[in-house]
Amino acid sequence: MDIGTVMNTLRDPAGVPAQPVVFQILMVLTWVLHIAFVHLALGAAGLAIFAFHRRRHGPHWERLSLALTKVAKVAVSLLIVLGVGPLLFTQVIYDPQWYTSNVLSGRWAIAFIFTLIVAYCCWFAFYHANRAGARRYIGVYAWIALALFCLDGLIMHALSYQALLPQRWMDWYAPGGVVDTRGAALHAIQWPRYVFIMGLSVPGIGLFLIAYTHYFAVRADYEAKWLDFVRTLGRRLARWGFALSIVPMLAWQAALPAGSGLLTDPLGWLIVATLAAMALWMRGDKDTTHGYLPLAGGVALLGALAIWREVIRVHYLRPLGYDVQTYKVHVDWPSTVLFFATLAGIGGLVGGFYLLLLYRSGRTQGIYTADRSVSRMGTGAVAVLGVWIAVFLAYGIAISVRDTFY
Ligand code: HEM
Repeated sequence: MDIGTVMNTLRDPAGVPAQPVVFQILMVLTWVLHIAFVHLALGAAGLAIFAFHRRRHGPHWERLSLALTKVAKVAVSLLIVLGVGPLLFTQVIYDPQWYTSNVLSGRWAIAFIFTLIVAYCCWFAFYHANRAGARRYIGVYAWIALALFCLDGLIMHALSYQALLPQRWMDWYAPGGVVDTRGAALHAIQWPRYVFIMGLSVPGIGLFLIAYTHYFAVRADYEAKWLDFVRTLGRRLARWGFALSIVPMLAWQAALPAGSGLLTDPLGWLIVATLAAMALWMRGDKDTTHGYLPLAGGVALLGALAIWREVIRVHYLRPLGYDVQTYKVHVDWPSTVLFFATLAGIGGLVGGFYLLLLYRSGRTQGIYTADRSVSRMGTGAVAVLGVWIAVFLAYGIAISVRDTFY
C-alpha cells in the first residue's frame, strides 16, 4: 500500500462539517495568535532574566525585570490557551499526520505537558521571589523555566515536522524491521526552522517594548527617562533581532527539499525581505512613526510565516497523495453557524469588551471610570453570554433527547 493511501485511510470516516479550506484558514489565523504569544512569553522571560542579572547597573534594569516577569507570566497562559485553536484545526484536516507524529514520539508528547507544568511553576517561583533586593540564586528558577519552555517549543517543532515526512514513518516505527512502540525519540528536527521561529522572540519583545512606551506615554507616573530607556532598548532588540533572524531563515530556505518548487516560491523570499525591511525601519533610537505600527508590522510578518508553513506542508504532502481539499465533507450547518456566531459574539463582543476595558483602564492613572460606550458594550457582552449559554444548552439537550428517544 502506498503512503498516500495509508494517509487517506487514516482520515476520520465521519468527514469534516464544512469545506476543508475553512479549517485551513482558521488554522493559519489561530496559529498567528499562538506564536505571537510564544514570542512574547519567551522574549519577556529572556529579557526579564537578563535584566535581573543587570540590576546593579541601575534602577531601570530592576524595574524592567519586575515588569517583564509579569508579562511573561500572563503571556505563557495566553500562549497555552491560544495553542488550542490551531491544535483543533490541525486535528480536523491533518489528523493522519498529527496523530501519527504524536504516537511516534508518544513519550515526548506526554512529557510536553509535564515539562510545561514544571516550567510554569518555576516561573511563578521566580515571579514570587523577584522583588527589590531579591537574592541572586532565585534566577535559577527562571533559567529552568526558560530552558523548559524552549524544550517545549522543540517538541512542538518535532511533532509538526515529523508530520510532514510520512515516507519515513515506517523507519521510525519499525527500525530495521523491528517494531519499537516506545515513542522515545524525537525523530526529525529541522534546526534552522526551529531556531528561526523561536528566535523571532528577540525582535518580538523589542516591538512589544516600543508599543509599551507608546501605551504608557499618557501616564504621568511613567517618567520620560524610563520610557526613553525602554524605547531605546526595544528598538535595538528589534533592529538586531530582525537582522540576525535573516541567517536562520536563509538556512531554512537552503534546507527545503530540492525540486519541490519551494525555493522559487516568492513567499519565502518575501519573508526574508520583510526581515531586512523591519531591521532597517528600526534604525536609530527615536520613534519615527506611530508606536503601534512596528508591532502591526511584526504581526503581518507572522501572518506571512503562518501561510508559509502551510504552503510548505502542502508541497510536502501533495506529491505523496494527500490533499486536504479532498477530505470528505458532511455539511453540518447548525454546528457551523453556532461556531461562527460564537466566534463573533463571544470572541468579538465579549473579548472586544475585555480588551477595550483593559486597554483604557491601563492608560488611566488612579481609578478608571468607564464611559457610556464601554458600559453599553459591557451590558451587550453580558447579554450575549446569556444568550450563548442558553442556546448552547438548548441545542445540546435537544440533540441528546432526539438521540435517546428517536
Ligand atoms: C512553551 C510552550 C510552547 C512553545 C515554546 C511553543 C512553540 C511552538 C512553535 C515554535 C511552533 C512551530 C513549530 C514549527 O512549525 O516548526 C508551534 C506550533 C504549534 N503549537 Fe506550540 N508551543 C508551546 C505550547 C503549545 C501548547 C500548550 C499548545 C496547545 C495547546 C500548542 C499548540 C501548537 C500547535 C497546534 C502548533 C502547530 C502544529 C502544526 O501546524 O501542525 N503549543 N508551537
